[in-house]
Amino acid sequence: MNLKVKIKDFEFENPLMNAAGVNCYTIDELEEIRNSKAASFVTKTCTLNTRQGNLEPRYYENELGSINSMGLPNLGIDYYLNYLESLDGTYFLSVTEMNTENIHKILEKINESSFNGLVELNLSCPNIEGKPQIAYDFKTTDKLLADIFKYFKKDLGVKLPPYFDLAHFDIMANILNKYPIRFVNSINSIGNAIIIDENDTVVIKPKNGFGGLGGEYIKPTALANVNAFYRRLNKDIKIIGTGGVNTGRDVYEHILCGAYMVQIGTRLQKEKSKVFERILNELKEIMKEKNYNSLDEFRGKLKTL
Ligand code: FUM
Repeated sequence: MNLKVKIKDFEFENPLMNAAGVNCYTIDELEEIRNSKAASFVTKTCTLNTRQGNLEPRYYENELGSINSMGLPNLGIDYYLNYLESLDGTYFLSVTEMNTENIHKILEKINESSFNGLVELNLSCPNIEGKPQIAYDFKTTDKLLADIFKYFKKDLGVKLPPYFDLAHFDIMANILNKYPIRFVNSINSIGNAIIIDENDTVVIKPKNGFGGLGGEYIKPTALANVNAFYRRLNKDIKIIGTGGVNTGRDVYEHILCGAYMVQIGTRLQKEKSKVFERILNELKEIMKEKNYNSLDEFRGKLKTL
């Protein structure tokens, strides 16, 4: 059975990897994923300098998923870049910054490095007070991408927030289709949710308890976003599906909707890196039952009535 995935000239043994933010803050965590059955990893979204992130508690999970307001804690671009430059294989470096000037600075740094994997530009972190998620601002996103592709020579994709309106899928897809983007990662957490405990209190401290929702709660929204972009984007922009992946069936559904790679977040946090082996085995079992020998045979083949 062939589980290989190709994004441009980058080949991966299977579709599984972590989602940025989970198990990817330190080199030790990234090595743990590298030594698991995941085909690749993405780093914690990093910024030019180290960030402590938001006050704790800033992560909470229950049986349906998770809520987080981490606030982009990370060890700074140099930490991740130096590590990645030392590796063979294809990995993803996730980056963002607090304003467009600094986004260009961080991308220029990557441009000058010997990093030769894929860069994930995170346009969708919902957890920085006073900083709206960039990809909800279509004009700013368009201008940012136009400026980036004047100088950026490496392979770049974008991580998007969920959209909830068909007109917004149209607008964003029209913007993305103008640029040589390698992939779109849909979705980041559903921003600014609240979960309340039995003492009538929010479960995380930052932003009065507002945070990004992940896990089972968000799978239907994630699948819809993957499929909406799969239908609208140029076929050389590959989709990475993220959101609500607990089982092989969930990975299968993401691929059915059009995903190439599939990222695991909340469930990885719970089950640690052995989750990849379990989910891969479950995916293979489904493919065997359905007589599929490769992911290409069912990718995007979601049936409609
Ligand atoms: O708050 C955080 O660090 C989360 C980042 C993200 O959702 O992109």
